[in-house]
Amino acid sequence: MELLKNRILTDGKVIGNSVLKVDNFLNHQLDIKLFNEMGKEFRRLFEGEAITKILTVEASGIAIASIAAQYFDVPVVFAKKYLGNNMDSETYEAEVFSFTKNQSFRIRVSKKYISHDDRVLIIDDFLANGRAILGMSQIVRQAGARVVGAGIAIEKAFQNGRAVVEQEGIRVKSLAIIESMEGGKLVFKD
Ligand code: G4P
Repeated sequence: MELLKNRILTDGKVIGNSVLKVDNFLNHQLDIKLFNEMGKEFRRLFEGEAITKILTVEASGIAIASIAAQYFDVPVVFAKKYLGNNMDSETYEAEVFSFTKNQSFRIRVSKKYISHDDRVLIIDDFLANGRAILGMSQIVRQAGARVVGAGIAIEKAFQNGRAVVEQEGIRVKSLAIIESMEGGKLVFKD
């Protein structure tokens, strides 16, 4: 998606050789006009698929998934990382290891919000090592529901996330695919 790639080139900051900081429009300050265009593009990429629900994980996935959901006309469910007092006790759960943060966390979704007949599109901001997407797909499967695919805003193709996710039979569609960031230079795939 040219609009997103151009925005990454204008406002993204490469940290080291593998982390892209996009706080200016995606992870902290949010550009809703851009999110709307991203939502339309996700809709186009998953055209013809019957989707009943979008699943993401807090925090950064929520805004992207919520705007996209308007174009699918379905509810958004987000997996929780932090347990509040009001969390239902009946949950589907998965353990996710974050390489970026070097720690594991447990993600949870109330059993009320995914049912066996759901066809779920997973949406997230980054695909790096694929663990977050795998965790969410485990939750969907625990519910007996089906993962239709994973829609990603920014994929880092030099990490192994796509292979890990595709190995689980999940179709991956990314809006911007970064081939490399060696020496701070961003190179996109096609
Ligand atoms: P994975 O999700 O593909 O397994 O990758 P990883 O464990 O490495 O990523 C963990 C967290 O770091 C995720 O956010 C992911 O979105 C984010 N992340 C990974 N690579 C980058 C990057 O290059 N730039 C930025 N800005 N974020 C990256 P999270 O833990 O779910 O945190 P948050 O959504 O609460 O911010």
